[in-house]
Amino acid sequence: MEEQKMWELFWEIHSGNPREGPGEYQSTKRAFEMLKDLPPKPRILDMGCGPGMQTIDLSCLTDGTIMAMDNHPQFLDDLSKKIEESGQIDRITPFLGDMCNLHFEEGIFDIIWAEGSIYIIGFEKGFLQWRPFLKDRGYLVASELTWLRADAPEEVKEYFIKEYPGMLDIEGNLRIIQGTGYRHIGHFVLPESAWWCYYSPLEEKISQLRLKYEGIPETLAVLEDHQREIDFFRRYSEYYGFVFYVTQLD
Ligand SMILES: C[S@@+](CC[C@H](N)C(=O)[O-])C[C@H]1O[C@@H](n2cnc3c(N)ncnc32)[C@H](O)[C@@H]1O
Repeated sequence: MEEQKMWELFWEIHSGNPREGPGEYQSTKRAFEMLKDLPPKPRILDMGCGPGMQTIDLSCLTDGTIMAMDNHPQFLDDLSKKIEESGQIDRITPFLGDMCNLHFEEGIFDIIWAEGSIYIIGFEKGFLQWRPFLKDRGYLVASELTWLRADAPEEVKEYFIKEYPGMLDIEGNLRIIQGTGYRHIGHFVLPESAWWCYYSPLEEKISQLRLKYEGIPETLAVLEDHQREIDFFRRYSEYYGFVFYVTQLD
C-alpha cells in the first residue's frame, strides 16, 4: 500500500475514538492522588493528550490549569468539543506542539502528565528533556508499556522486539527515573479494564471498517494487524502491561 493511503487508513482507524491508549478514570485518579505537595491551582502540561479523555479527568481532579498538547490537530478538535461539554473552557488550553521540541519558558509547570505518550520521545529522553520545564520539586507522571514478567514466551518476545524494542521492566524504568534526577514516589500496573477502555471501541471500529473495505485485501491486511495487537493482549496480558510511574524532581 502506498504511504499516503496507509496514513489515511491509520487516521481513519484512529479517529473518533474516546482515547488513544490504555487508561481509565480510576487509574488517572490513583496516580494524581499520589502527588502530595501541590499548590491549590497547579499548572499542568498534558503531553500527547490525544482526544483528551485524561485531560478532562484531570480537570475533575484539580482546580489547576491544563495545557493539553498534541501534534495531531484533529485530536485537539476532539478535545475542544469535550472541553465545551465539560464547561472547563477557562482551565484547559488545547495546544498544537511537538513533545520532542518544546518552546515553553523554563520552570513553569507543577506537573508534566504523559499518559501513554512518553514512548514517542523515549522514556529516558522524556525524563531528561522535559526536566527544565518543571518547577523545583515538580512532578513527572508517565504511563509506559512495561515487561511484567521475564519468562514471556518466544512469540511475545519476538513481537515486542519488532513493535517496541525499547520496552523495559519496572526495575529498568525505575533506574532511569533515579538516574535522570527524579525521586520515585510510586508506581502501579494499570488494570486490564483500562486496556479495554481503549481496545473495545477500537475493535468495534475495526469490525465496521472490515465491512466498508470488504474485497480490498491490502486494506483488510492493515486492519488485521490492528486486530492482531488486540488478540495478542487477550492471550498474553500477564507478561506485559502499562505501568504508571509517579515521580518528583529531586
Ligand atoms: C498513544 S497516544 C495517547 C493519547 C492520550 N494520552 C490517550 O491516552 O488517549 C499518543 C499521542 O501522542 C501524540 N503525538 C505523537 N507524536 C507527538 C509529538 N511529537 N508531539 C506531541 N504529540 C505527539 C499522538 O498524536 C497521540 O495523540
